[in-house]
Amino acid sequence: MKLRKALITAGGKGTRLRPITYVHNKHLIPLVNKPMLQYAIEYVASAGIKEIGIITNPDFEDLEKAFGNGKMFGVRLTYIPQEAPLGLAHAVITGESFLKGEPFVYYLGDNILRGGIQQFLNAFHENKSDCHLVLSKVRDPQRFGVPQIVDKRIISIEEKPEKPKSDYAVTGIYLYNESIYEAVHAIQPSPRGELEISDAHQYLIEHNRKVTYSEITGWWKDTGKPEDLLEANRMLLQDVQNHHSGYSDDKSVLAGQVFLSEGSVVENSIIRGPVHIGKNCRILNSYLGPYTCIGNGCEILNSEIEYSILMDDAAIRDVDIRIESSILGKSAVIRKTEGIPANHRFIIGDQSQVQIR
Ligand code: DAU
Repeated sequence: MKLRKALITAGGKGTRLRPITYVHNKHLIPLVNKPMLQYAIEYVASAGIKEIGIITNPDFEDLEKAFGNGKMFGVRLTYIPQEAPLGLAHAVITGESFLKGEPFVYYLGDNILRGGIQQFLNAFHENKSDCHLVLSKVRDPQRFGVPQIVDKRIISIEEKPEKPKSDYAVTGIYLYNESIYEAVHAIQPSPRGELEISDAHQYLIEHNRKVTYSEITGWWKDTGKPEDLLEANRMLLQDVQNHHSGYSDDKSVLAGQVFLSEGSVVENSIIRGPVHIGKNCRILNSYLGPYTCIGNGCEILNSEIEYSILMDDAAIRDVDIRIESSILGKSAVIRKTEGIPANHRFIIGDQSQVQIR
């Protein structure tokens, strides 16, 4: 049976991305100036799936504002609030009435990959699997669900094991037939109080269901931590095309792939791509280095920045050290102090991080 439905997660606490996630849903953080969740929606849509349920926190206004009913992606989005982030198997239970017992793609909305998901749907069908998992080799399997593989068969799966039985992570792309519903209802909460999706997979294995897998050989990232966001941004920036609809003066150099959106002005500056610049930004006497994205309405004056993400209306003014590997939230400002004494002054929200030398 052709898959008609997908369930995408956009709930959870996003604790590892605080303080940004105090104000924004993690899945709305921009990667190459596009909300993270949009990549998931587009991958699923391009695999021909039209009915998408989005698992959200009880308050999901911001997501609805960003993606509406899904028409702009050629799909129908249904927002499904989860009472609390009680685990990824609990999210499946939450989506059950939307899924109505059909097979579906389960996609964790914080997973970014290159190359789409069609090949995994094909493998699910060809193998006539009950459950098809997508694996990726990682250096730190302790952070993930980890399979034990013998003779090309998954014989067990553990969530965040201290002693992983392979160097594979189960990524956040899963394909299921109706047998998953039995599994998510049968399992018990883990010691951290969540209904773990890895426990549901283990249940399927123990009940002789056909659990198969594909391996991602290209790029995949779970954007749990700030360094993962920067890395995902870097990976996605590799596909940015040259596009100069803003203005740059004769004294400026735009080298490599630079996307300069309309209304933005670059004066006496060097921009070395890949770089993506949103609308109505001002860049003056500055250097923007590779793998930098700046949102709409940002200002960079007399400063240097690279390998960073600036959200809308952020600004860096007159800072005489190069800023690197940084994430600035909406309207955040870094500027040189004025007057005497020449001290450092910080107004920093809860769980912010500042590194100075
Ligand atoms: O990314 C792959 C990993 O994702 C897998 O290897 C693990 O087996 C799986 O448990 C999961 O681990 P994480 O610790 O990364 O899951 P996280 O809590 O970050 O949640 C992943 C996504 O699901 C994210 O979009 C937030 C959302 N979520 C999470 C929970 C716990 C919900 O919407 N509801 C929830 O109850």
